[in-house]
This record gives sequence, structure tokens and C-alpha cells, in this order.
Amino acid sequence: MPDNIYLNGFGYYAPERIITNEEMTTIVDTSDEWIVTRTGIKERHIVAPGETCSDMAYAASVKALEAAGMDATELTAIMCATITGDGVVPNMATKLQHRLGTKNTIAFDYNAACAGFVYGVHIAQGFMCTDPSHKILVVAGEVLTSRTNWDDRTTCVLFGDGAGAVVISNEQRTPAKPTALSGNAMLEGVLSSADGTGGDLLTAYGGGSAHPYKKGDVVGDEFFLYMNGREVYKYAVRNMTGICNTLMEKLGYTIDDIDVLVPHQANLRIIEAVGDRLKIDPSKVFINVHKYGNTSCASIPLALGEAVESGFIKPGMRVMLCTFGGGMTWSAAILKF
Ligand code: UT7
Repeated sequence: MPDNIYLNGFGYYAPERIITNEEMTTIVDTSDEWIVTRTGIKERHIVAPGETCSDMAYAASVKALEAAGMDATELTAIMCATITGDGVVPNMATKLQHRLGTKNTIAFDYNAACAGFVYGVHIAQGFMCTDPSHKILVVAGEVLTSRTNWDDRTTCVLFGDGAGAVVISNEQRTPAKPTALSGNAMLEGVLSSADGTGGDLLTAYGGGSAHPYKKGDVVGDEFFLYMNGREVYKYAVRNMTGICNTLMEKLGYTIDDIDVLVPHQANLRIIEAVGDRLKIDPSKVFINVHKYGNTSCASIPLALGEAVESGFIKPGMRVMLCTFGGGMTWSAAILKF
């Protein structure tokens, strides 16, 4: 792979409205104590009425472009990870293209569930191999609460909405007006994987072509997210740890070479279990799951953006991303800031 693929600017957006655990207790039979102990989540953000996934993706993209000092017209490709885009057609990427005022870009959506952002970095690496002059916007956005079963206490307490974006190019960029989200991170390596045998552990199949609705049908539980939490938990810990070890080995690194771990923010216990198995110092692990819950593919760019903005990630640091989601899918990347 080319040794000059850079993530240039980091953008994220979370809706204003917050649902605290306290408010959750008015929706389902739960408690702040249960949610915090089992998941680490204290609150989650949720879209306002009429606010769409592409609205959030647009807000995150504008911040990423500003941070990279890049005009949207320079973009050659826009790729959006999402399982909760505005609709089936048109895709979210073309909506973004239109709003950003770009032309002649490739623009497509893809679904790798929670692993989607790092999958996008992997796809972008492929684009850069075919043409190093590409300037790619990788966006991940999710209105998970549009597929949340608010009667199911085992899942509804877990999810939130948000979006994140980065620009990928073959150069380090120094914007005339840097923002707190500016920064250049060289992509040292990326791996992605999947195992379809675990597909039934995390589903929302209602309305798809395998389970189509007819006019007038009543939407049932099958439309909403179902998860076998215990099994997904085990799958997540095993495969996030595994892919991080494989990637470090491939690049000749040990855990001591990693300055910051940015894991998928689904559950604090998963994050801690992965950290323990990787034997990374807990102070190197970036965590914001308490503020956002599980935002699926948006969770990594939300965390990465906050880590850059807050100075948790500093120039010179080596950062490992790792994620896991329905499918099952998982992925990891190592970046050098
Ligand atoms: O992004 C994709 C990755 N997905 C994930 O990371 C999720 C992975 N899984 C998990 O994080 C955990 O499995 C959960 C947080 C979803 C659940 O934690 P758990 O420790 O596996 O709990 P459980 O499902 O085994 O449930 C334990 C008990 C049950 O009661 P009984 O049967 O023991 O009486 C549940 O009914 O907790 C009960 N329970 C709740 N109680 C209060 C389940 N949900 C709730 C709730 N409030 N919200």
C-alpha cells in the first residue's frame, strides 16, 4: 500500500437533545444503576423531529473539510457508512454531494454496521492505490433511534444518534485557519473482516426484500433492532482483540508502540475487556460511551474527533482504532499522527 495516505481533518456531530438514564426510566422498566453498571452509558443524543441522518452527516462533513482546509469542490469521492440513511434511494452520499456543492465525485453508501467507518478507511485505501490523487470524504452517520424498539429494555437503553467524517488524501494539510479538529494522521495499516454465521445475533430485517411490507401492514418488532446481547458481547471481545493483535503483528508493533486506543463505543465492559486482553494501559484508552451510547458506525469518528479536539491525541502519537458490529463485521486501523 502507498505510504502516504493521510486522514486530514476530523469532524463530528451529535444532536442537541439528550436522553438521560433518568428519562429512560420513564420509558421502560430500568434504572440508572443497571444501565451504568452493565454498559457505562449515562446519556445518549437523539435527533430532533425532522432532523435526518444526512443533516448530521452534513454537519460533520463541513467540520472535517474546515479542519482539513479543503474546499468541498476538491473532493473526488464521498462514501457514507450507514444502516439508517434518510431512505433507500437516493443514497446519503449523493444528498451530501448536493448540499456540499460538489460535482463529478463518486458517491455511494455502504453497510458494514458498526464497523462501517473503519471499513470506509479500508475502501479509501483501495481508491488511493488506484489513483493517489483522490480526495475522499469518508462519513459515518446513524439515526439508530429510528430503529430502536422503545418497548425492549434490553436494547433501547443502548443506542444513540450521531455522525462523524474525515477527509483522506495523499498529503499533509496545513489549513490557513486550523480548527481544534485539524490534524494529519498517516494510515499505517487497516484490516477488516466478517463472519456471516453470526448474522442472526443482531438484526433488523423488517421492510427489507426478504421481509417486504405491503401498503397498510402494521410494523412489528421485526422492523426494529434485535440483539442477543450476551453472544454479541463475547463475539465482540474475541474479534476486536484478535484483529488488533493481527494488525500489530503485521506492522511489527507490540502494544507498547500504541499510544492511544480508540475502540468502538458500545459498552464500557467490552472496552475494558478488550483493553485487558490487549494489555494496554487503561489511561491510553479513549472513552466517550457514557455521553453517546452506541452510535454504531458513527462511534469511532465521534470518539476520534473528540480525542483530537481535547488533546487526548497529540501529534506524534500512534493510534489504533478497532470496531465491531452486526453481520458480524469487525475492523482495525493504525494511524500515526
Ligand atoms: O455495536 C454492536 C455491539 N453490541 C454490543 O456491544 C452489545 C453487547 N452486549 C452487551 O453489552 C450486554 O450483553 C448488554 C448490556 C446488552 C446486556 O448485559 P448483560 O449483562 O448481558 O445482561 P443480560 O441480557 O444477561 O440481562 C441480565 C438481566 C435480565 O434479568 P433476569 O433475566 O436476570 O431477571 C434482564 O431482563 O438484566 C435484565 N435487563 C435489564 N434490567 C434493567 C436487561 N435489560 C435491562 C435494563 N434494565 N435496561
